[in-house]
Amino acid sequence: MCGIIGATSSRSVGKILIKGLHLMEYRGYDSAGVALHQKDQIVRLRALGKVAELESLMIEHKPKAKSGIAHTRWATHGQPSKQNAHPHDSHEEIFIVHNGIIENHSELKKQLTDAGYTMKSETDSELIAHLIHFHKQTTQDSLKALMNATQDLRGAYAIAMIDASVKGSIFAARHKSPLLVGQGIEENFVASDPLSIINITEQFFLLEDDEFAHITKHDINIFDANGHSVDRKETVIDATATATSKGNYKHYMEKEIYEQPEAVANTIDGRLLEMDVADNIFGIDSSKAFADIKRIQFVACGTSLHAAKVARSWFERICETPCYVDFASEYRYRNPLVENNTLFVCISQSGETADTLAALEYAKQKEYLGTVTICNVPTSTMARESDWKIFTNAGPEIGVASTKAFTTQLAALLMLAVAIAKSQNKNTELRQQAVQDLRNTPALIQEAFELLEDINYITKNISEKENSLFLGRGMYFPIAQEGALKLKEISYIHAEAYPAGELKHGPLALVDEDIPVVAVAPEDSLVEKLLSNLEEVKARGGTLYVFGNNRSTIEIKKGKFINMPECGDFNAPIIYTIPLQILAYEVACLRGTDLDQPRNLAKSVTVE
Ligand code: F6R
Repeated sequence: MCGIIGATSSRSVGKILIKGLHLMEYRGYDSAGVALHQKDQIVRLRALGKVAELESLMIEHKPKAKSGIAHTRWATHGQPSKQNAHPHDSHEEIFIVHNGIIENHSELKKQLTDAGYTMKSETDSELIAHLIHFHKQTTQDSLKALMNATQDLRGAYAIAMIDASVKGSIFAARHKSPLLVGQGIEENFVASDPLSIINITEQFFLLEDDEFAHITKHDINIFDANGHSVDRKETVIDATATATSKGNYKHYMEKEIYEQPEAVANTIDGRLLEMDVADNIFGIDSSKAFADIKRIQFVACGTSLHAAKVARSWFERICETPCYVDFASEYRYRNPLVENNTLFVCISQSGETADTLAALEYAKQKEYLGTVTICNVPTSTMARESDWKIFTNAGPEIGVASTKAFTTQLAALLMLAVAIAKSQNKNTELRQQAVQDLRNTPALIQEAFELLEDINYITKNISEKENSLFLGRGMYFPIAQEGALKLKEISYIHAEAYPAGELKHGPLALVDEDIPVVAVAPEDSLVEKLLSNLEEVKARGGTLYVFGNNRSTIEIKKGKFINMPECGDFNAPIIYTIPLQILAYEVACLRGTDLDQPRNLAKSVTVE
């Protein structure tokens, strides 16, 4: 999704901005642009498509500037086009880049058009430049004009702005869309994603909602909504440059799949005791507060939602606690009834997903016992806004399709289930078993990588199809959903997941000799039932690809049985995810898709 970077320095900033845009490519975008303060005017270059196109334009035009702003756009209002790409300007004086959505754009556009402004793009963002220009006519002060303009805006925004008449300055505003300031030596930055400048600085000042910043190469000034100066503590974000490179892998997704043993090891590191989880791993006084939990409400989106659906079974079993799982995008629109002592848990890799964040904000106004965030980005808004939190410590996930974020979320969720049961003195043996399974998980993931050859036996067949079915039962149904999501998002093969018992209630009509049916069939209490559902597929000539263990009794004439490592009850869902990720990855490679940045998708979905 859209990315902002701005730099003001004693050296030339063109390369810094382009490099920053490259580092944000993983977020997904359709066009890119830059505005540079050169002499007394601002030069703007914009390109449709990849940042490399913009880079070629920079090489051609060779702009020289010591301050500027840049952006990657992911279209929400108006087609992907050069005209709609940011930065947008007003009278070639005010240039802005914007992440988010302006909800009252129609009304504001009308007011501005009536006041004589002409819109040159179809975006909601352009009006911000005109609005600032409009206010500047009365205040004559760039920062005040930005502050006044934001009072008219409804929706979400992170804005970086430069003004042709104030050389070397960048102004910024944040409301419900991430933005931070980075501090360098004789140079300072604004960015929506710390990864874009992580090679230059580790020192950041995080902006809160409704705060503003004015930066020059020497100074950083942060202001609250009333214009009062804010004394912000510095945050050090340590992400080494290697964490953001592909190393010897062809794609980030491949690298991230194979990083999972280490990623899960980092999630559990320092949080487990011999037979239990350590106290307060979710934050101060969490263990005490968890003693009162009677119910749990989960919200998340996409892959993170699948993690919640898997974990529900753990919470029901280990903590004997009823759980509700909602799509974050739906939760607050159904007027949820909150029973006493319900814990609200949101799960998010980025900690910035707009739907999940909005659900968290809504939940904070309700009578929940408290809020927990499980996420991978410690500086994220969700992490800051929750009462308790745990970071998955998976390292930066760049591939748009979540892999290590998912398995580390599962590890964190299992620790949450154990932590709650521990606070409530419940199920000591199950807790011990869960902790043991967590410890064994990294090695088992490593073992699952050895299935690559078996998986490649089936990838060619699947890569030639346009439709597929994924089946599972119980907690393996969300694992099947996750497998189907991975396949569809990176290979563009239509993949649907069903709880296998539902097959005969409709989807069986799709089964013929042509459709591959992937089944997740570990040995659990439902496996016999699953196997009889698979007989229904066999009877219709369907091709079956079954992931199970060597005690399975299924005989496959058409398709393949893949023998999984022997897993524990609690880590099996994590381990059974691995071959499904590899399957999707290998199929997408055969189909030659842009699998780190699949079409139409963005990494961090910061609009509703
Ligand atoms: C799919 C995927 C998405 C994200 C979803 C939520 O592979 O990555 O479905 O899981 O957009 O994102 P986070 O977890 O950042 O809230």
